[in-house]
Amino acid sequence: MNIQTLLKRRFEAAVESFLSENAKDAALDKAAMIEMIRPSQEPKFGDYQANMAMPIGKRLGKPPREIAQQIVSRLQIGDVCEMLEIAGPGFINLRLKNDWILSRLQDAKRDSRLGVAKTDQPKTYLVDYSAPNVAKPMHVGHIRSTVIGNALANILRFYGHKAITDNHLGDWGTQFGMIIYGYRRFLDCEAYRQKPVEELARLYRLVRKLIDYHQCVADLSKYEEQAVALQEKNEELNKQLLAVNPSDTENNPANKDWLKKLKKEQTRLLAQIADLRETVQSVAAKIAAVHADSETLTQALRHLNIGRQVLEETSKLHRGDKENLALWNEFLPFCKEDINRIYKRLNVSFDHTLGESFYNDRLPELTSRLIRQGIARETDGAVGVFLDAALPPMLIQKKDGAFLYATTDLATIEYRVATFQPDSILYVVDFRQSLHFEQIFAVARMLGYDLEMTHVKFGTVLGEDGKPFKTRAGDTVGLESLLDEAERRAYEIVKNNDELKTGSGELSEEQRRETARKIGIGALIYADLSQNRESDYTFSYDKMLAMNGNTATYLQYAYARVQSIFARGGVEIESLRNNDVPLQITDAAERSLALDLLKFEEAVELTLRDYRPNILTAYLYELANRYASFFEQCPVLRADSELARNSRLILCDLVARTLKTGLELLGIETVEKM
Ligand code: ARG
Repeated sequence: MNIQTLLKRRFEAAVESFLSENAKDAALDKAAMIEMIRPSQEPKFGDYQANMAMPIGKRLGKPPREIAQQIVSRLQIGDVCEMLEIAGPGFINLRLKNDWILSRLQDAKRDSRLGVAKTDQPKTYLVDYSAPNVAKPMHVGHIRSTVIGNALANILRFYGHKAITDNHLGDWGTQFGMIIYGYRRFLDCEAYRQKPVEELARLYRLVRKLIDYHQCVADLSKYEEQAVALQEKNEELNKQLLAVNPSDTENNPANKDWLKKLKKEQTRLLAQIADLRETVQSVAAKIAAVHADSETLTQALRHLNIGRQVLEETSKLHRGDKENLALWNEFLPFCKEDINRIYKRLNVSFDHTLGESFYNDRLPELTSRLIRQGIARETDGAVGVFLDAALPPMLIQKKDGAFLYATTDLATIEYRVATFQPDSILYVVDFRQSLHFEQIFAVARMLGYDLEMTHVKFGTVLGEDGKPFKTRAGDTVGLESLLDEAERRAYEIVKNNDELKTGSGELSEEQRRETARKIGIGALIYADLSQNRESDYTFSYDKMLAMNGNTATYLQYAYARVQSIFARGGVEIESLRNNDVPLQITDAAERSLALDLLKFEEAVELTLRDYRPNILTAYLYELANRYASFFEQCPVLRADSELARNSRLILCDLVARTLKTGLELLGIETVEKM
C-alpha cells in the first residue's frame, strides 16, 4: 500500500477539474502540483499535507485558502480521510481514518508481501556489481559495491522488476602479469600444492611490494626536484613582496590588488610545498621500510626491471602466449574460489560471472567497426573516440595494440543488450570511475544504444582518522579479516548478553556462534548501506555493532524482542495471523506505529527512485523506534482486554515481519534470540 500514491491519485482528479474550469490557459505544471503531497512534519498538521494551493493561488492571483477550498470541495476522499482541514495560508491537512488504516493492516497481515504491491511498470535491469580484480585479495573497498549491488538487486526483484546480476570480474589485468612473474621466480612449490590461493596471494603481494619500491625510488627524486622548483618560486615571490613599498600601495588601488594577488599566490604555493613535503615523507618512509628489511631489499635489487617485465608478461598473455595462457587458466579457478568464500559469507550470489576475459575475442571487431562508423579514429598509432567538448577523448586501443578497460566495457554493453535485452543497466562502482562511465555511456549512445545506463556511484571507506581505511602498516585492509573481526566482536556481545540471562544463558555454544555470525556480518553490511552512498563513510566496529542507534544490531534486537514476547506469552502467532482477529487503535503510539507499518511500500519505491538503500534503512530504523515507544506505552501481554492484547500482538508481528523482510532485502539475516 503506497498511501502517498493513493492520495495523489485522488487529488489528481480534483486538481484537474479545478484547473480546467479556472485556469485553462495558466501555464501550471499539473504533475508538479500533484507532487506537493507529503507526510506532515508534525502530527498536529495531520498525517499528510497537500500544498499546491499556494503556487496555484500565486499564479492566478487569488487567495490560496480559496483555492484550497475549491480543491477540497471537488475531492472524493471520504473513505480514506477524516474531514479535511485548511490551515494557515492554504495548506490542506489530511488525516487518515483509523478504520481505513486498520483495514489496510488487515490486508498486510494476510499478505506474505505485507501489502506491498508490485510495480505496474516492470522492467528488466542488469545489475553490474562487486567486480573485483581477482588474483589480488579482496579488500575493504570491495565491500561497498558488493553489498549495495546485492541489496538493489533484491529490492528490484521484490518490487516486481526483473534483475539480472552479472559480476564483471577483472580477470585479465596486470595483476596476472604479476603473479606469472612471481610464479616463475618466487614460487614456494610446497605451499602452492597445499594452499594455492594463499601462495598466489603471497606472490601478488611480494611482486607488488617490489614494484612499489622501485616506483617510490623513481618518484622520490622527481618529488624532490619538484620541491626545489617550488622553493625557488617561493623565494622569487618573497623578493617581489619585499620590493613593494607600503606607501605605494596605500593610495594606489592597483598596487593594492597586485599585492593581494601576490600574497594569495604565496599561500597557495606554501600549501603545495606542505603537501609535497608530506608526500616525500611518506614515500621516503616506504623506501626506508624496505631498506630495513634486508631480504626484501636484496630481492628488490635483484629485480630492477620488475615493473617492465611484469607488463611484458601481461602483454604476452594478452597476445595469446601459450605458456602464460596455461598459467592463467591454472590460476583462475583458485582466484574464483578465493572470492566465492567471501561471497558465501556475505550471502551474495550472481546470475552470471562474465569477467573481462570473456570479451577478448570481441575487441578487435568492435574497434574496427568503431573506426568504420567514424566514431573512433587513429592518432599516433593508437585508437580513440573523440567525444564532444565536455568529455576528454577515450582511448580504446593503445599503440602496442593492447585494448583497454573501456573497450571491454563497450563490448560488454553490446553483449548484454543482445543477450538479456535490459531496459536499464546499473553499474555499482566507485565514484572515481565517473569519467569512465560518462565516456562509455556517450560512446554507447553513438553506437545507437538508447537504454538507460546509470552509474550508481559510491564514496570511499575511511578509517576513524578520516583517511582511507588502512591497516597500521599502511596496507589496504583485507575483506576477510574484516569479516572475521566483525564476527569476533559480535560473539563477545552475544556471549555477554546471553550470560546476563537467568541460568547464565539460553544459547548453546553453537547457537552463540551462529548468532554472532549473523550479527557481525549484518552489522558490516548495514553500516555500509545506511550511509548516503555518495559520501565517504567512516568505518567503526563499535558504532556498527551498537545495540542502540541506526544499526543492524538494533533492528535484529527489536526483531528478537518481538519473538521473545511471543515465547513468554505462549502466543501462537501463526494461528492469530490466520484468524480474523479484529484490530484496534486506542493509543497515539499505536496509531503512529500502524501508520508507519503502512509506509513500507513507499520506502521501497523511494529507495529505487535513485538507487539509495539508505532510504530503506532509515525507514526500518524509524519503524523500530516507533515500536520501542509503542512498547513502552502500550502493554501487550498484559493489555486490559483480549481484544487489545490480540490486536497489539498482531502489530508486534507486523513489525517483526517488516523488519525481517526489510533486512532480508538488504542481505541481512535476523535471529530469533540474542
Ligand atoms: N574491476 C573494476 C575495478 O575493480 C570494476 C568493474 C566495474 N564494472 C564495469 N563494468 N566496469 O575497478
